[in-house]
Amino acid sequence: MSEAAKELEALNRQITTCQRCPLGQMRTRAVPGEGPADAQIMFIGEAPGFHEDRQGRPFVGAAGKFLEELLASIGLKREDVYIANVIKCRPPGNRDPQPDEIAACRPYLDKQIDLIQPRIIITLGRFSMARYFPGATISRIHGQPKRVGGRIYYPMLHPAAALHQPHWRPLIEEDIKRIPELLKELEGVEMEAPKAEETYEQLSLF
Ligand code: URA
Repeated sequence: MSEAAKELEALNRQITTCQRCPLGQMRTRAVPGEGPADAQIMFIGEAPGFHEDRQGRPFVGAAGKFLEELLASIGLKREDVYIANVIKCRPPGNRDPQPDEIAACRPYLDKQIDLIQPRIIITLGRFSMARYFPGATISRIHGQPKRVGGRIYYPMLHPAAALHQPHWRPLIEEDIKRIPELLKELEGVEMEAPKAEETYEQLSLF
């Protein structure tokens, strides 16, 4: 096991007992994320829902099933990618994550990204998008990749959006199809990891 993989395992263990915000008292299980420590592709969702909270695994409910179908459409399985969330514990009643919860969880996600060093980060939904594209509107910028250093940030609609409003479905299906082409674009491009602050600065100009 690589050093990064060991560190990621230790970090994810630490997340399972986290009490940095009140959600630590309300969850059944924390959901650190899962996937290979050297994944090229990382998906960042919003927060665990009912099933994720029970199982301690990301995207295992209806939205997860759709995400797996989307991955299959580009020849990937969920085991090929890293899947995490902006916040690691379920907000009661699946309400929106609060700014203080997002802030409390941010060091975990930053560290996960640091260790995994994905070539592409795909944000799923508004909350994940807002981390990298502050002030942007998802219906306007979804499907528009933005390269910073050797990494591409790619905002997509949340798969759950298509379950609630079927007219989003073709858009999501179209957006995911670009991922192989984006990965190809990065072939031969050196992976200089963008620093978190620099990334936020550059992406805020988007
Ligand atoms: N929705 C998310 O954003 N994350 C999950 O893990 C499950 C559903």
